[in-house]
Amino acid sequence: MKKIIAIAVGALLASGTGAALAQQDAKSLATGVCAACHGPEGHSISPVFPRLAGQQAAYIVLQLDAFRSHARGDPNAQAYMWGMASQLSDATMKALGDYYAAQKPAHEKPEYPDLLAEGKKIYTEGIPVQNVPACASCHGPKAEGAGAFPRLAGQHTDYLVAQLQGFQSGLRSNAPIMLGVVKTLSPEQMKAAATYAASR
Ligand code: HEC
Ligand code: HEC
Repeated sequence: MKKIIAIAVGALLASGTGAALAQQDAKSLATGVCAACHGPEGHSISPVFPRLAGQQAAYIVLQLDAFRSHARGDPNAQAYMWGMASQLSDATMKALGDYYAAQKPAHEKPEYPDLLAEGKKIYTEGIPVQNVPACASCHGPKAEGAGAFPRLAGQHTDYLVAQLQGFQSGLRSNAPIMLGVVKTLSPEQMKAAATYAASR
């Protein structure tokens, strides 16, 4: 049965690039494939797998494209997403972005409550002495994101921390803006900013 479904999805994907077909593809992929890791409607359980519910559609498309071209190449991206994205057409990526953007975002409790106040300060004011800009200036006052700037609100805190570490170490090297932002952040400051952003 599983094999039959896999073949059916493969056939669907190969058979065209029209917008209506892409939308059909996106729905069956989201529920039949992506949900295995990202959860039903993009509500994943493990922080290894980012939540996609309510994420900005444009950001999702940019990331899928970066996985497909191998531009986003941190170890988890390579292990999980390179193969996944290699099969997707531009039209299907766009439909997947629209599908997940339309899902209701999750709520994340403050993961490191002791760091919440410090995180709020970093998020809203930046750290001028370290040349760190306010996260709010791009990710929005409620961390809702906009277009190419991802939603951080409702994301797993530990996923956000891992990404900040990835920017700083250069493992996720295709994001020049964020490479500049995180340059001088300490591990505690990353956890603090992530805790505040995720819990909006
Ligand atoms: C086998 C597990 C797995 C499957 C199946 C999977 N993903 Fe992923 N996905 C991941 C992991 C792990 C990451 C985080 C990669 C990283 O840490 O860089 C990720 C990251 C992403 C991101 C980036 C999110 C962000 O906040 O930057 C998008 C978008 C995404 N996946 C979409 C999809 C779509 C659409 C599908 C189905 C076509 C899918 N994924 C299927 C494991 C999976
Ligand atoms: C000048 C604009 C800008 C500022 C300021 C900024 N960001 Fe970002 N951020 C971005 C962009 C653009 C991306 C998407 C990068 C990409 O396309 O890979 C991003 C991505 C991220 C991600 C990865 C999200 C995911 O789903 O994978 C995290 C985490 C993040 N930013 C946290 C922060 C924090 C914390 C701050 C403040 C200390 C901050 N950002 C300040 C523009 C900004």
